[in-house]
Amino acid sequence: MTQQIIKIKKSSSYIKDTFISHIKEAISSYNLSNKEYELDNLHNILNNDIKTLQKGTDQSTLLHKAVYKTFDEPNYFLSKFWSSYKILCLEIVDKLKKETGYSKDWAIQRFPTFRFQFPNNISVFEFHRDSNYSHPLGEINCFYACNECRDSSALQVEKNLGFEDYAPLNLMPGEYAILNTTMYKHGDLYNKTGKTRVSMDFRFIPTVHLSKEKSSLSKQIKFTSDSYFINEKEMIKIGS
Ligand SMILES: [Fe+2]
Repeated sequence: MTQQIIKIKKSSSYIKDTFISHIKEAISSYNLSNKEYELDNLHNILNNDIKTLQKGTDQSTLLHKAVYKTFDEPNYFLSKFWSSYKILCLEIVDKLKKETGYSKDWAIQRFPTFRFQFPNNISVFEFHRDSNYSHPLGEINCFYACNECRDSSALQVEKNLGFEDYAPLNLMPGEYAILNTTMYKHGDLYNKTGKTRVSMDFRFIPTVHLSKEKSSLSKQIKFTSDSYFINEKEMIKIGS
């Protein structure tokens, strides 16, 4: 039997609060709203004018644009968000080194991917395995809950390889799961919680297993440590 083993851990309150503040500030400075919304209620900013997310739109809502824009700002690598992201990623690398026994260099996803799952909507357009999109087999994923992920607002993850027997990855804010989404199928149900789910996901892989050729089909970003990934030693050097 090949069964998914998911490890759930919790980040510090400081890291969680930094992530949440960054998202809220990014959205308010994008002139989407003159009022600050809790993450649960972000759908109200878009005035319920949200079509079912699909291929090509599940990463490009106004909220995605607002947050991703901050990664291009000149002072991004001096931001608290980057500092917290770096601390969390390096902590995870330490854990992965112990758990896998692979102690040489790891590569880390340079910028996290954000998911906004609005009520009666999905955040990723189809059930899939990340390997369907050329992600390397050795990749390990971290799914980070910025607010609560519960039942239909949680990521649905295959328990047994090939069985398509999904279970919700329920998490409280600040909790994160280390799991295999390269081989195990996963996706979203329609969110019936009435709240927007906000999460981030980012990936880790021993640098030696990065392919020089393959690229992310969705964004045409090459899976090398120079673009989609950053080597852990480089990450340590960047920013404060
Ligand atoms: Fe995925």
